[in-house]
Amino acid sequence: DSEYRVRLVVLGGGGVGKSAIVKRFLSNTFCEKHRPTVEDLHYKEFDFGTMTLKVDLLDTAGDLQFPAMRRLSIANAQAFLIVYSIDNLSSVGIMKQCFEEIREQRADFQEIPVIFVGNKSDLSPEKREVPKEDVAEWIFCDLPRLRTKLMECSAKDNVNIKELFKGFLHLAKIP
Ligand code: GTP
Ligand code: MG
Repeated sequence: DSEYRVRLVVLGGGGVGKSAIVKRFLSNTFCEKHRPTVEDLHYKEFDFGTMTLKVDLLDTAGDLQFPAMRRLSIANAQAFLIVYSIDNLSSVGIMKQCFEEIREQRADFQEIPVIFVGNKSDLSPEKREVPKEDVAEWIFCDLPRLRTKLMECSAKDNVNIKELFKGFLHLAKIP
């Protein structure tokens, strides 16, 4: 009850900051350089005080490359983080495609915790292409599900990263 073990897969377009979020969570560091990921598996135990999160964290390739690998990662996941970048409208389209793939592949998809994440919230308002309300409308009107959250974060400035992972504890506990 005070511990939650989960295989979590991070999906989303290229360059949205999937690896930066993972790196911030794992080691509280940030790197300006973009090194495209193929696939990286990490493990971390994180103590939230009242709850411990034990997470097998799979960081995947962006831009919907490697469809076979992605199918396998979706098949094995217990929860998803689907990331877009607030300065990139097309990354929202890729996020939606990722969600479609989960819906198509997983008969149990209504049970699966999914957190939609708008990363790079540190960027100046002029750079923003995606209002949070637009994404919220899609999520909460077009695809109402129980175990869903939408959060904005910044891997760069370490805003909302812990909260993101803590979100899974709440989603998992919904009866
Ligand atoms: P792929 O592995 O190619 O799919 O990319 P990714 O989604 O893992 O992106 P990655 O974490 O490699 O970050 C891509 C670029 O965005 C890098 O140059 C990062 O420094 C930058 N970046 C990541 N997170 C943030 C953020 O929160 N704010 C800002 N301003 N830049 C970020
Ligand atoms: Mg990456």
